Formats: sequence, C-alpha cells, structure tokens
Amino acid sequence: MGYLTVRDADVKDKVVLVRVDYNVPMKDGKITDDLRIRASLPTLSYLLEAGTKKIILISHLGRPEGKNNPELTLAPVAEELRKLLPGQKISFCLLPEKGEKIGEVDDAKIVLLENLRFDAGEEGNSADFIKNIIDAVDAEVYVQDGFAVAHRAHASTDAVAKFLPVYMGLLLEKEVINLEKVAKNPEKPVLLIIGGAKVDDKKPLIEKFANKAGQIAVGGKIAADGYVGGNNIYVAEDFDEDTNGAKLDIGPFATVKITGFIADAKTIIWNGLLGKAEDPAYATASTIVAEMIGEKEDAETVICGGDTTGFVENLMKDHPNLKYSLVSTGGGAALEFLAGKKLPGLEVVKKN
Ligand code: 3PG
Repeated sequence: MGYLTVRDADVKDKVVLVRVDYNVPMKDGKITDDLRIRASLPTLSYLLEAGTKKIILISHLGRPEGKNNPELTLAPVAEELRKLLPGQKISFCLLPEKGEKIGEVDDAKIVLLENLRFDAGEEGNSADFIKNIIDAVDAEVYVQDGFAVAHRAHASTDAVAKFLPVYMGLLLEKEVINLEKVAKNPEKPVLLIIGGAKVDDKKPLIEKFANKAGQIAVGGKIAADGYVGGNNIYVAEDFDEDTNGAKLDIGPFATVKITGFIADAKTIIWNGLLGKAEDPAYATASTIVAEMIGEKEDAETVICGGDTTGFVENLMKDHPNLKYSLVSTGGGAALEFLAGKKLPGLEVVKKN
C-alpha cells in the first residue's frame, strides 16, 4: 500500500501516542453506537501484546470550538473502553497545562486524554499545542488510527508528524484497503446516497462526486433545506412533516425513487440518514433503504458516517440477514477518500 503500519514500528517499552476517532454518537451523555471504539481495539491489542510501555489515546468529540464543554467530555468513552478491555487499567486525563507532565503521575497502561477540541490549538493545527502533549507524556512514536478524522489537517493528525515517527494503525489500514476496492474501478452503475445534517460539509462532496458516481440521491436535512440537484443528482421532493411543517423524513415518492436506484446499482455508498431517524416516526425511509441495501447480494455496499453506521448496526441486531461489504468508521473522510481527495491524516503516514 506504500504506508508503514504499526507492525513496522519498534514499540517495545515505548510510549505510543495513538490518534483515534472516538467522535461517537451520544444521547443524554450515553454512547448510542460504539463502532468507532470497538474498531480501535485491534491496534490497542496489538500494541499491548508488542510490549508497549504506555498507550496515550487522543481524540476529539463533537465541535466544541476551542472551549471546555462538559457535554462533549470523552469521559463516557473511557468508561466504555474499560468495559471493552476488562483487566486493563485505563485512566482518563484532562489536557495538560503548558509544561505539565502526565506520565509521571499516572501508572495506567492506557491513558485517554480529554477532548482535544477543548483547545483551539487542535483545529488550528498548532505545533505548540501538540508538542506540549507529546512532552507531557514523553511520547516516542505516533500511530494514526483515526480514519474518520483523516480528512482534517489538525494538530493531532498533521502537525504531530513534525515531532514523531508516524505509523498507520490497523483500523486505518483496513479502511484504506477496503475503500480502495470501491474507489478504483467500481462496478457500474454506482449509486451514492447522501443524507444527514452536516450540510456544509456534504455539498462540495456531492458536486465532486457528480462526475464519478452514476447516480446521486440526496435526502435528509440537505434535501429538506432545498438543495438543488443537477443532471445525475436526484433530490427528494416530498417529505413527512411534523405538525409545525418541519420536514423530518423524505416521503414515499422519494423513497420509491431511491429504492429504484438501489435495485439497479452494482456499487452503493450511503452516507447520512434520510430523516430524523432517532425518532422512529421519521425512520421509515432510512429503514427501507438500509434493509434493501443489506439484502442486496449483487453489489458492493459501503455504509459510512457515524449516525448512519449506528442506525444500520442497530438494525442488524434484529435482522442478522442484513449484510454490507463495509461498515466504515469514516463519514466525511470516507467520502473524501472515495472522491479522490488527498487526506492530510494519510499523507503524513506516507511521509514516514
Ligand atoms: C466525523 O465524525 O466525521 C469525524 O469525527 C470528523 O468530525 P468533524 O466533521 O467534526 O471534523
């Protein structure tokens, strides 16, 4: 693949800084889908078995815009990790103050640091910010395993590479190998289904994809907000509304139209729910589409985006017959990768 992976790294007795993406969907302080946490375990197990001195996990959660926000603390993720790795001492630490040492005061094998985006230095790609973390924990090796955030040039995905040798984690490797299969010579017709709420992020990608995908179908908030499609971009036109007229799911006509595209497609990529699916009253279109894609045996199918993968995984619990080629941990990252854009968090691994 042309990247060095964690298997190539000398990690024995070393402090390893691992960028994971624990930006998991939460409701009332509870994690509603732990796919991204479970997906980080192979790299953690590998590092533990390889005799790493200490693993320092760094991640963001949500978009707190450089300010402390108790609703976006990663503390619940530390709890979840303790459940998934019983017997491991896992501690949770606030971001270090300037010049503060974390390693000296903490004897846990795994340390999860607080939400990086509580400091503006993270999104500002600040070398000082990440250097302070590296020095605080005496990190010697950096492992990039946060595929879902690899499209961001932030301090923990980009500036970090100025200071440490960089290796790809096992999740990042798995995502790249699988997404490359769909990106290079996908079997046609290709269908891209877009929904969800990160409207500003998705619009440019829809346009980028317009030349690549055979058919694009747009639902969710982007469609509800009146996004105007083009040649091969179908935008839902009918919606299920609440009593205030808010468009909370795509309607039956749009759903039938999209299922028609699914029936014909040989490669399907789905990112973003088609309605406010956390409310069962507005989950109809997403459920129909998820089931139809999962039952399709004659197509490569990729599901991406935190809310979409969470939704699909919940559905799979009750319907074990549903199968997808890849349930990716990436949302925007997966789309950018598939659209052929360079991902800063992957570029740094190449530079090793
Ligand atoms: C994601 O969920 O797509 C990633 O964690 C990146 O989050 P962001 O869009 O807030 O940068």
